[in-house]
Amino acid sequence: MGFIDDVMAKARACVKRIVLPEGDEPRTVQAAAILAAEKLVCPILLGEPDKIKAVAKEKGADISSIEIVNPKDSPKAAEYAQALYEIRKAKGVTEEMAKQLVEDPMYYGIMMVKTGDADGLVSGAVHTTGDMLRPALQIIKTKPGTKVVSSSFLMECPNKKLGHNGLLVYSDCVVVPCPTAEELAQIAVSAAETARTLCGIEVPKVALLSFSTKGSAKHDLVTKVQEATRIAHELAPDLLLDGELQLDAALVPEVGASKAKGSPVAGYANVLVYPDLQAGNIGYKLTQRVAGAEAFAVLQGLAKPCNDLSRGCSVEDIVKTVACTAVQAQA
Ligand code: ACO
Repeated sequence: MGFIDDVMAKARACVKRIVLPEGDEPRTVQAAAILAAEKLVCPILLGEPDKIKAVAKEKGADISSIEIVNPKDSPKAAEYAQALYEIRKAKGVTEEMAKQLVEDPMYYGIMMVKTGDADGLVSGAVHTTGDMLRPALQIIKTKPGTKVVSSSFLMECPNKKLGHNGLLVYSDCVVVPCPTAEELAQIAVSAAETARTLCGIEVPKVALLSFSTKGSAKHDLVTKVQEATRIAHELAPDLLLDGELQLDAALVPEVGASKAKGSPVAGYANVLVYPDLQAGNIGYKLTQRVAGAEAFAVLQGLAKPCNDLSRGCSVEDIVKTVACTAVQAQA
């Protein structure tokens, strides 16, 4: 049983309301039908009801039990516009602009989550990562205790000796292009939390990666990872965490024992924190394409869960991402 089966079981145990702003997108409509039929979540589709129903009919998807909301004529629109105006007026958003923004399903969906009318949001089958991330960052903002929204990729590797029975958490591979040491430390702590809540990894072992292990190389980039490790220790003194470590020292017990003797995680890391977005994004795609791992992405550090899909996603990917979002909402 993969970790995603566990996620599905958890989602079912406490059904959450998840809003899907791309409500007339065919894969999203099909996914919503599956989510409702399997009682995984209570999906809410945003968009024009006639258009959504036409897509459902064409795809043979039963959406008869699913709530559909049209942001353009919703009775909640005025309330959301006022709330959005209050949140963003200091940034130059006028009341008129706020009214127009909530007609956009993405902003309407974000406001549903912000106000508690939905527990989480999933989009990205059509929109880019930035299209969803920007309103989420501006309106939902970060959860208490962190200043950084980032991501974790949950990598299910064929080699079950790696990480937690083949499951590795990679962070950050999507959001923060060039984190400071402080941001990297917060990313490490958030990734450990994702490992616990979503992956069922009771004891996260976090490695902050570099091209150096324990001072084997000297460079400003290495110093940043060392500093991030120090800050992360301060932020989460009980977390098993170490850095800076090269990838082989983090994952291979023999290498870890020789290069980082006495480390609490070397050789057995299950959470890998990359020094920047280029390394993280390349690292997850390499693992996916070369090692044949399955990859699921989630955002972390937001006050309420919102998740992004790849535009090439399948119906199954949407179902899984929505289930992950529901479990994050439970936490
Ligand atoms: N955490 C918390 N808040 C943040 C973060 C963050 N990581 N980044 C930006 N913010 C806040 C800012 O403080 C600002 O708040 P304010 O408006 O209240 O002052 C708001 O979000 C907007 O910030 P900007 O800097 O104006 O936003 P920007 O236009 O730079 O977009 C974004 C932010 C989208 C996250 C940007 O950093 C980005 O494009 N990241 C890379 C995304 C990407 O392309 N990833 C790779 C592809 S995805 C894949 O391969 C799976």
